[in-house]
Amino acid sequence: MYFVANWKMYGNLSSLNTLNKVIKFSKSKAINKGRLIYCPPNTLISPLSKKFSNCQIAIGAQNCHENESYGPFTGFVNCKMLKNIGAQFVIVGHSENRKKGENDKLINLKIKSALKAKLKVIFCIGETLVEKRKKKTKSILSNQIKIGLKKVKNKSKIFIAYEPVWAIGTGIIPSSNDLIKTVQFIKSKFKKKFPKILYGGSVNPKNIKNLKEIDNIDGFLIGGASQNANKFIDIVKKTYS
Ligand code: PGA
Repeated sequence: MYFVANWKMYGNLSSLNTLNKVIKFSKSKAINKGRLIYCPPNTLISPLSKKFSNCQIAIGAQNCHENESYGPFTGFVNCKMLKNIGAQFVIVGHSENRKKGENDKLINLKIKSALKAKLKVIFCIGETLVEKRKKKTKSILSNQIKIGLKKVKNKSKIFIAYEPVWAIGTGIIPSSNDLIKTVQFIKSKFKKKFPKILYGGSVNPKNIKNLKEIDNIDGFLIGGASQNANKFIDIVKKTYS
């Protein structure tokens, strides 16, 4: 199982000390088959890659520019640059960025540019509450997948993170029944090789007991709870207990 920590716009150099516990945990038996990926803000990728140099914890960025090469794009960072400082993954299509205007076509360009730079992609999809109420979940997810992955061949490097927008940071998670059906639906969109599927949205040490029972989930994308090392470790431990 994969456990992806999405730190969002939190953390500074001193926050890295809190990860000593996580490093220790990652080297212990208790980690079981858990694979950890930390996605800090860009400012912390380089120091984090030094900190993790003696352990198996991977690092990802939270977004990227769609241009493969360098260029006059003030304030942005491309995948080459992220790879160069130690990222192995990049989150693309997070709803917090979709809300700011990122559309499926742009997300598709970002995914292709990430794969070219040899980054693995955590591709976020999910419906809003209004869309859910209008029973549009399936059509929304279909479109996000269809356009987002248009002409993307190597799906083995893609992780799809199903994050219902209404579940992010709210403490609310989908019912097990709904989640089982949605994950099944996402899988049905792929013929042979499925990308890995993560669930994200208010994952915490309490609800992980239910979430881990959902079939076909390969891991979790964890926001709020990942900022606390103890909670993050607890989530991994409870997945295997
Ligand atoms: P949350 O965030 O765990 O705080 O709900 C998840 C995410 O935004 O990836």
